[in-house]
Amino acid sequence: MRKGAAAQVKELPTQTIGKQAKSDKDYSIYFQSPSLKDAKKRGKEEVSVRYESAIPDDMKTIGEGKRYLIRTYGCQMNEHDTEVMKGMLEDMGFEATEDKRDADVILLNTCAIRENAEDKVFGELGHLKTLKQEKPGLILGVCGCMSQEETVVNRIMQKHAFVDIIFGTHNIHRLPVLLKEAYFSKEMVVEVWSKEGDIIENLPKKREGMKAWVNIMYGCDKFCTYCIVPYTRGKERSRRPEDVLAEIRDLARQGFKEITLLGQNVNAYGKDFADISYTFGDLMDDVRKIDIPRIRFTTSHPRDFDDRLIEVLAKRGNLVEHIHLPVQSGSTEVLKRMSRKYSREHYLELVSKIKRAIPDVVLSTDIIVGFPGETEEQFEETMSLVREVRYDSAFTFIYSPRDGTPAAAMEDNVPDEVKKDRLKRLNDLMATISREQNELLRGQTVEVLVEGESKTNPDVLSGRTRTNKLVHFQGSKELAGRFVHVTITEPQTWLLKGELAVAQPAKVV
Ligand code: 5AD
Ligand code: SF4
Repeated sequence: MRKGAAAQVKELPTQTIGKQAKSDKDYSIYFQSPSLKDAKKRGKEEVSVRYESAIPDDMKTIGEGKRYLIRTYGCQMNEHDTEVMKGMLEDMGFEATEDKRDADVILLNTCAIRENAEDKVFGELGHLKTLKQEKPGLILGVCGCMSQEETVVNRIMQKHAFVDIIFGTHNIHRLPVLLKEAYFSKEMVVEVWSKEGDIIENLPKKREGMKAWVNIMYGCDKFCTYCIVPYTRGKERSRRPEDVLAEIRDLARQGFKEITLLGQNVNAYGKDFADISYTFGDLMDDVRKIDIPRIRFTTSHPRDFDDRLIEVLAKRGNLVEHIHLPVQSGSTEVLKRMSRKYSREHYLELVSKIKRAIPDVVLSTDIIVGFPGETEEQFEETMSLVREVRYDSAFTFIYSPRDGTPAAAMEDNVPDEVKKDRLKRLNDLMATISREQNELLRGQTVEVLVEGESKTNPDVLSGRTRTNKLVHFQGSKELAGRFVHVTITEPQTWLLKGELAVAQPAKVV
């Protein structure tokens, strides 16, 4: 059996740096400097699953009369981690607030994927410094992917010493203990394990609305050369199928309408099980039988997208016909340098297979432009792939070098203006294709899960199709949380406008 969390902290190498140190002893328990190099190591040590209650008895009322605010940056994995932290804070008696002046605890759950995500967090820290000066009792914490980077932790310790807690992605379940330490000591509390620990089940989660995220696995072992995630999120660890299925059944009982299965690379699900042979396709086949109207998943890697999964997705039912399939580049040469482990041809063959099995499938993707050494011809290969696949939508990015990743050491000879120009050309092309794809829906009636009033116009309701397209239409607010049929009258590039159809679905409400 693996050792408990506290013992594990003492086992790890410790350092004492920074003028905040009161004594070596403080940091021997609470200072854990991250190391991207250690994070890269993929050991054979077994990952155990621990079923436990996260809140120590003496912390169960510590938040009474106090409020918290969590700012979340980045991906859905971070959004879901925030739900876990909210759950823990509320189990300690804290209440949520949206107003930072009102908060006794503020946590920034950060993202490290691109430089601009990090800039936003440092900007926010600048603003929070004034608040902290006005309200010294405020506990300010930084967590998430940026905390796993040693350069970030050092920068915060040196330039933002007013921060009270820094903790990493592997330390989320330790929040109550770290918070207690922050309340009772005057030191900055830093705990970032470079290597992943056990999978902790039974952590409380505060979910809102009708849609829920469910983690099926943690970490990533793909090591695409541009990506920081395998370092900040650790090695691939799958949750046991029985735990995932029990959580989804429970969400079904609670009345959730849509579930998104989460993992950095969901197709690798189950590859780390030593005792059973159970893949992502098997999991989807079991989830399909649970009474939840819609099931999505994100994100998949084209390399591991196997025939079993396609066969299961083709059974449809609650498995929606939308697949997010990041391609990153249309050039085999660039894909090789990115270490994506598939070629343009393999990707296109996979897309054809999926389209044969699910003819009305909607595909979306992620694309990086301006990767080191990307030539005009190679960029044009991305453009031609986009034309061939005809994605309904795409997240497009300019390559951003990340410290410690192999691509950061590659010679980057693509000038900034060229990168910006390529992004613009790609976005223009995507806008044209999205518009044309949406036009195909004119006059069609689609099933919409109503989310509520639109953000821009309270007279208009907003919802999503099975294929995750945004739909706006007029209707009564009571429809929020229900399924309706909407006839599309005005397709646009990013939005479908429509009218409630005369015939409404008999069931799924
Ligand atoms: N620069 C730009 N985009 C990146 N992504 C990941 N790392 C980087 C980087 N260093 C993009 C990829 C990934 C998405 C989540 O973010 O397209 O699929
Ligand atoms: Fe990053 Fe590649 Fe893993 Fe996705 S599959 S998280 S891009 S390393």
